[in-house]
Amino acid sequence: MSRFPIAVLASGTGSNLQAILDTVHGRDGIEVVAVGSNNADAPALERARARGVATAAFPLADHPDRAARDLALADWLQAQGARLVVLAGYMQLLTPQFLNRFPLAVVNVHPALLPAFPGLRAVEQALAHGVRVFGVTVHFVDEGVDTGPIILQRAVELPRARDAAEVLAHIHAIEHELLPEAIRLIARGAVRIDPDDPRRVVLDP
Ligand code: GRF
Repeated sequence: MSRFPIAVLASGTGSNLQAILDTVHGRDGIEVVAVGSNNADAPALERARARGVATAAFPLADHPDRAARDLALADWLQAQGARLVVLAGYMQLLTPQFLNRFPLAVVNVHPALLPAFPGLRAVEQALAHGVRVFGVTVHFVDEGVDTGPIILQRAVELPRARDAAEVLAHIHAIEHELLPEAIRLIARGAVRIDPDDPRRVVLDP
């Protein structure tokens, strides 16, 4: 079995990181080798340390600008051997300089059915719009805000939902399955871009 080292970036709680550590880390060759954050106090870093995973924080204030911060972050992730970078609640936009270092190897989980409700507070946006179907998207990261090619999506019908906390409980449960599933698919080489349509992701059986 070939080894597939991955890195996770997280800014906050890290429940998605925990799902990755609990369900894919150490299985099928997948290994979380690094967890990075823009926030030195992110509880996600503590979750990683508890599992013996290398951590580092790259606050913007410690660097001249975003591009320099992202290059330092990319250097560190590559030094740890990461082949895939998973954004799990990473609340910073990555610069082109970073993305060029990990071509088609950065994925994000977003708490809405993209292209609806990109950006911050997606569940609140969806509630304010009055949607009856919510959901989760895992997508490749490009230079836009939640605009990259879609890998997996799952919907949940909540026609009577009024409360963001209630919706988020459903959304998190889906995220904790869908993001590990996407990582497993990528690790076994089952995810590729359609050569005829760069917007379309092909999942091999
Ligand atoms: C998730 O809802 C994810 O979709 C969004 O940020 C949240 C992170 O939650 N991008 P957690 O830190 O993994 O608990």
